[in-house]
Amino acid sequence: MAEQTSVVLEDAGKKVSLPLMEGSVGPKVIDIRKLYAETGHFTYDPGFTSTASCESKITYIDGDEGVLLYRGYSIDELAEQSDFPEVCYLLLNGELPTAGQKSQFLKNITYHTMVHEQLSMFFRGFRRDAHPMAVICGVVGALSAFYHDSTDISDPHQRVVASHRLIAKMPTIIAMAYKYSVGQPFMYPRNDLDYCSNFLYMTFGVPCEPYKVSPTLANALDKIFILHADHEQNASTSTVRLAGSSGANPFACIAAGIACLWGPAHGGANEAALNMLQQVGTPDRIPEYIAKAKDKNDPFRLMGFGHRVYKNYDPRAKVMQQTAKAVLEELGVHNDPLFQVAMELEKIALSDEYFIEKKLYPNVDFYSGIILRAMGFPTTMFTPLFALARTVGWIAQWAEMIADPSQKIGRPRQLYTGADRRTFVPVEARG
Ligand code: SDX
Repeated sequence: MAEQTSVVLEDAGKKVSLPLMEGSVGPKVIDIRKLYAETGHFTYDPGFTSTASCESKITYIDGDEGVLLYRGYSIDELAEQSDFPEVCYLLLNGELPTAGQKSQFLKNITYHTMVHEQLSMFFRGFRRDAHPMAVICGVVGALSAFYHDSTDISDPHQRVVASHRLIAKMPTIIAMAYKYSVGQPFMYPRNDLDYCSNFLYMTFGVPCEPYKVSPTLANALDKIFILHADHEQNASTSTVRLAGSSGANPFACIAAGIACLWGPAHGGANEAALNMLQQVGTPDRIPEYIAKAKDKNDPFRLMGFGHRVYKNYDPRAKVMQQTAKAVLEELGVHNDPLFQVAMELEKIALSDEYFIEKKLYPNVDFYSGIILRAMGFPTTMFTPLFALARTVGWIAQWAEMIADPSQKIGRPRQLYTGADRRTFVPVEARG
């Protein structure tokens, strides 16, 4: 049978043929770029449940099979055999680095970890109890006020420098936000430490004594960052792309992504999931919360459950659960009650008709909070850590869009249901 290359839309007796485009894997797309010109109609898809916003070669998700690939490599293989800086190189450049490329990349990142000394003044303007997401959103947006030599997006070299600066400085800025919140002095990055060890040092080290980085915690963090690095066109990545489509500088685009990630339906879910587990407290209260999650009149949702794309188990959640077990054992927190509640809640939810019918499985945020809490991070730091890891994905997607010669400013239309044209009435004549 001949390969189907188009679909035909019949509208008021007129037939419009729309091309079908096929990717390397995954669903075909109907190219509707000429739809309005040929039919005078828009499509309608709030939430973009059936809409491809772009063509990309970076990340592929098969939601039904629970598959996640970064540049073709599966997330479980990368989490098992690679490391976060190498995954950053892969996402940015499309291939795993040779040993020489990797060492040059590590050097580029290491020598951008410091922030402009004046940037530390920004933190003083915030209340100590400000949520760290508010702080990093402001400070990252302000980077464009300091690094003018990497804001010209038409210059490929400046785009690479801005990418390296953002990947390198996010750990420093996030560690500074934590230090500021606990009233401790900022710790300068150290060039002799690897990416994750350096972040732990800047976060938990103090100037008064040496800080010994735990390899277990550094390895767990590295894995958590790999799992969070990219995820095709999720809400915050789409925000970064839309901001970038206007020509905004990369620092401003990443600040927009941070703002979007903060929402509890997105990156804020890891903080919300842990707060929920603390609220449940003990396994015997799980049925009460499952009932609340199923009650249409109750806004409560099981945080860390469900996903727009995954209608099977989120492959990241699987690796996260295994990592949680390993870290808790290493830390001697064998019977963390929250982990017991989480595993029991997952077991009960996955055997409940409502969750089965709606294909609700644990997502990346369900177990991550348990590990981060055991590592000593306060819950308010969970989403900043998600942002730290996702920065490379945002940057890779932004760079792919900017380098695309056919790129245009994103400008969706709407279905207007407001008032039709009417004449102005002066205030004295109004009823
Ligand atoms: C991330 O897009 C990405 O890739 C995001 C992410 C990434 O890496 O970038 O994977 C990261 O954001 C993970 C998701 C974290 N969010 C949460 O854990 C918050 C809790 N989950 C939900 O709010 C929800 O599942 C979403 C937002 C994640 C997905 O929502 P959808 O796809 O819009 O689905 P929906 O809200 O239309 O829900 C479908 C049905 C609804 O019931 P009905 O209206 O059909 O009767 O399932 C129900 C929902 O009420 N439902 C839940 C539920 N999630 C969906 N019911 C109880 N608990 C939940 N968690």
